[in-house]
Amino acid sequence: MIRSVRTHGFIVKGKPVGPRSHRDANDLARPCIPLPFSGRIEALPLKPAKVIAIYPGSFDPITNGHLDLIQRGSRLFDRLIVSILRNENKRPLFSVEERMEMLREVVNDYPNVQVDSFDGLLVDHAAAYSATVLLRGIRAISDYEFELQMALMNRRLRPEVETVFMMSNEAYSFISSRLVKEVFGLGGSINGLVPPVVEARLRGRLSQLQTKGA
Ligand code: PNS
Repeated sequence: MIRSVRTHGFIVKGKPVGPRSHRDANDLARPCIPLPFSGRIEALPLKPAKVIAIYPGSFDPITNGHLDLIQRGSRLFDRLIVSILRNENKRPLFSVEERMEMLREVVNDYPNVQVDSFDGLLVDHAAAYSATVLLRGIRAISDYEFELQMALMNRRLRPEVETVFMMSNEAYSFISSRLVKEVFGLGGSINGLVPPVVEARLRGRLSQLQTKGA
């Protein structure tokens, strides 16, 4: 006799089924299945066993806002690669190598976080790591328009790579690398806005520039 069985809010005829989360786990083990209709929606691969995310940026220099995102991202993803764009046109204060050194010092406590650099397309860099996520922070609505454009362009280039946005911690939502450099250069305090190693590097760079200018 077939009886209705109620499990976790689902009524299933015949044998009982597990909770919904078990059924989802089984679904994820299946390979990618094409969608049963035509159209522009892509059939995407299902969730990989390990989720690798790239957190790209200029990081000139890293701020506590970036670091907060790295900490939170490291808890969400199996592996997080913080990647610096090699772009000398931006006339950075610190070289890519200097920025990588600072980043390595501050992410040292997170075993699943790694530092790298890239040039060319971000999505190609992601593919080289088999990363399926691009992590970006949004501080205010003013960030949204640029981030939306980038996310949509990146999706067009590689639909299998998803951009994930995290809201900045409110304590750091007004910080940017540009503002930190400006305030520090004009003698203002940046205490609590950047990791101590970055403040020390900024002090060193400022005195170098002052000596050069003198
Ligand atoms: O910290 P930033 O400067 O806001 O980071 C911007 C970055 C590095 C994420 C973006 O400029 C980028 O991804 N550049 C790589 C080139 C690329 O892929 N361009 C197309 C993406 S729309």
